[in-house]
Amino acid sequence: MTTFMLWIHLTAVVVGIGGLGFFLLILLPSLGVLSTEQREALSKAVAARFRWVSWAAITLLLISGLYNIRRYYWEEAWGKSWLLLTFKITLALVLFAIVLGLTIPLKAFDRLRVRRRTWLVVAFAMGVVVILISAYLRVG
Ligand code: HEM
Repeated sequence: MTTFMLWIHLTAVVVGIGGLGFFLLILLPSLGVLSTEQREALSKAVAARFRWVSWAAITLLLISGLYNIRRYYWEEAWGKSWLLLTFKITLALVLFAIVLGLTIPLKAFDRLRVRRRTWLVVAFAMGVVVILISAYLRVG
């Protein structure tokens, strides 16, 4: 079960953070070859797919992450590991909030979407930092 949950966690990380990286480093810089009309059509189709993929990744990360806490940290006394883990989870939750803000199809979030590229850079950078903290936590 432990291996299964870590596998779920890592697969969700690869698909979720990988998706952000693909958006930012490959898709957005390549949109210039399309006409405005084509660009809008592609952006719409990609947004619809990214919505479900990112929501699924967030759900799986939360379930497997909570399980990992129960498995690896529950018995541990408060200390450096818990502190770093708390910092990691806080960063992850802010990252999730940014992704939800960019993908929930409500007018209230349009202001956030105007600066889509900036928020994607912030989210991707946070994801990379979260991976660094996780690697540190694992090695100890
Ligand atoms: C952007 C979101 C996240 C990323 C990129 C991420 C990444 C990772 C990575 C790379 C590992 C290392 C797995 C290993 O090889 O041992 C890990 C482990 C872990 N994650 Fe996450 N994670 C995220 C979200 C979460 C959340 C939301 C929670 C808690 C609710 C969580 C809790 C844990 C725990 C407890 C471990 C085990 C740590 C250890 O090995 O000591 N993660 N995570």
